[in-house]
Amino acid sequence: MSELDDLRVHGETRVGWCAATPPNEFVDAEGRPVIAKPPFGDPDPRAPASRSPDHPDVLALRETLRANNGLRGLEIVQPHEVERAAKIFFRDGFVVVDGLLDPVRLERFRAASARRLRDILEIPGEGGRKYVTESGRLPHRYSYGTSSASRQLLDDADWAAMIDLPTTTPILERIFGGDDYNVIGAGGDLCLPGAIEYQGLHADFQGDWSLPVERIKSAERLGVKPRYDTATGEMDAQSRQLIFERTPPHVTINFLMSDLTWENGPIRQIPGTQTRAQKPPSQAEEPDWMRWSTLVGAKAGAGVFRDNRAWHGATPNLSREIRAMPNVEYGGPWVDTATFAGTMPHDVWEALPPQAQRLARAIKTAPGVWPAGAGVMHPLRARRLEAKAALA
Ligand SMILES: [Fe+2]
Repeated sequence: MSELDDLRVHGETRVGWCAATPPNEFVDAEGRPVIAKPPFGDPDPRAPASRSPDHPDVLALRETLRANNGLRGLEIVQPHEVERAAKIFFRDGFVVVDGLLDPVRLERFRAASARRLRDILEIPGEGGRKYVTESGRLPHRYSYGTSSASRQLLDDADWAAMIDLPTTTPILERIFGGDDYNVIGAGGDLCLPGAIEYQGLHADFQGDWSLPVERIKSAERLGVKPRYDTATGEMDAQSRQLIFERTPPHVTINFLMSDLTWENGPIRQIPGTQTRAQKPPSQAEEPDWMRWSTLVGAKAGAGVFRDNRAWHGATPNLSREIRAMPNVEYGGPWVDTATFAGTMPHDVWEALPPQAQRLARAIKTAPGVWPAGAGVMHPLRARRLEAKAALA
């Protein structure tokens, strides 16, 4: 019986912990080992010397994490606490909200996450390795989005069903100052047991420091009252900064398929970094307090609303459980939708309720048009480009 036969993204699994996959081994588009470049390619200089659960380095890291892992005093709010959620989100650049998924939705998302992960793990690794590592990513870590040849999973009805939930929409409307925002994409990430390396801290997008009229109006809808210098007519620096803080270009909700524990690769978020002009520290420079600034204590069915500008990164999964966080990504009302790719097939869009259809209006395809590459999962970039070209 294959370890993939009963693949689940919660609870104990036989998947992962491939000792034949060297620590910090990156592969290129074709799967050849390479020295990769940051941001996703920043190796972890403090990683254990072997990917085996009983190696002394792993045991030592486990004890360090057991003693220290987790952001002290992490606030976890309930879905009805919309004001409190928004306040924490604008302050910290993220907020954990419990109970976003009811038991039926949680089960549906778990099954979908396992189904798309199986597509990735079924591809045999080379040289005794159990799996193919994703191009440009650390071993045992995959992105549901970048592993899809269309870059998104909105061709999947199970992901599409999560874009507009009674628990998430009120918080999104509060953050965006109304209902005029858009779905950009959906995917998420996961780490297998034995993902022993930290992923470098990064922001998902370059900061957007422009202040178009629509962005200013967006902030005003949230109660910001810009002040202008009477002599020059210029907006003052404090007002500009406040607008940047209140108008995230992108917000992602990561849904948790398992409880986040000190040992199963909880995401780390550095509070208050969503409008920093400087870059996050490299792996070599990162202080311990940042390495331990993780969302331990968040439960399965909860989610993290993330301002994608905030510094974050994945952490070691030393457990026997997969840590999967499928997501949905949204763009603010002032963000130009002309740049969004059509990644939701018309048929999937048509089956959605009206409010969800409205949110996805910018990324749906014309009737009969299948998004290039949609439906194909592959860790290697070259194979994805081939699939995209064939299906274009
Ligand atoms: Fe990220």
